[in-house]
Amino acid sequence: MLNIVVCVSGGGTNLQAIIDGVKEGSIRNTKIVGVISNNAGAYALTRAEDAGIPAYCVSPKNFENRERFNRAFLAQLEALAPDLIVLAGFLVILPEKMIEVYRNRIINIHPSLIPSFCGTGYYGLKVHEEALARGVKVTGATVHYVDEGTDTGRIIMQKAVEVLDGDTPQVLQRRVMEQAEWVILPKAIDEIASSWEERKE
Ligand code: GRF
Repeated sequence: MLNIVVCVSGGGTNLQAIIDGVKEGSIRNTKIVGVISNNAGAYALTRAEDAGIPAYCVSPKNFENRERFNRAFLAQLEALAPDLIVLAGFLVILPEKMIEVYRNRIINIHPSLIPSFCGTGYYGLKVHEEALARGVKVTGATVHYVDEGTDTGRIIMQKAVEVLDGDTPQVLQRRVMEQAEWVILPKAIDEIASSWEERKE
């Protein structure tokens, strides 16, 4: 069994896709042992609670400085002892130590085909605004491992999505989620879980 922790900051539709995948069996050999948010108001926390998954908020706002927040965040992760950490719309700069401790065990979903429209500042609607401004005909999403850089880690899976005439950033964002993010993030976790099982046999 691959024990995963999902880190979220917002609405949590990607988290929902993972919860549903585990429930329906498209994500095999996987247990969500916890959900952590930096944002107490994140609807993702409600989604976790509704699914009976332990949900935690560790917010920088509740700590004197970054160092203390980082320590508390790492302690929460350590307590959950995940095999894999999934960043699903997690808008926090990760503590350096976390990347060291969980090397090759943190994955992220990014709403473009990396290396396009990625790196510092490329999150949320901005990614889709820039894709439309550049006039690309195809965009998509990428699941990748997390390293010290921003969106620079090894690519695990990508899926292309068509850009259509008249798309607004919001419309394109939704299509990328529906056709790519909610498909490849569960799929990548399923693949990692199956190679995890094989490794143990
Ligand atoms: C998604 O677009 C994801 O690619 C990005 O943040 C967004 C999160 O959405 N990293 P949600 O919270 O999963 O609905």
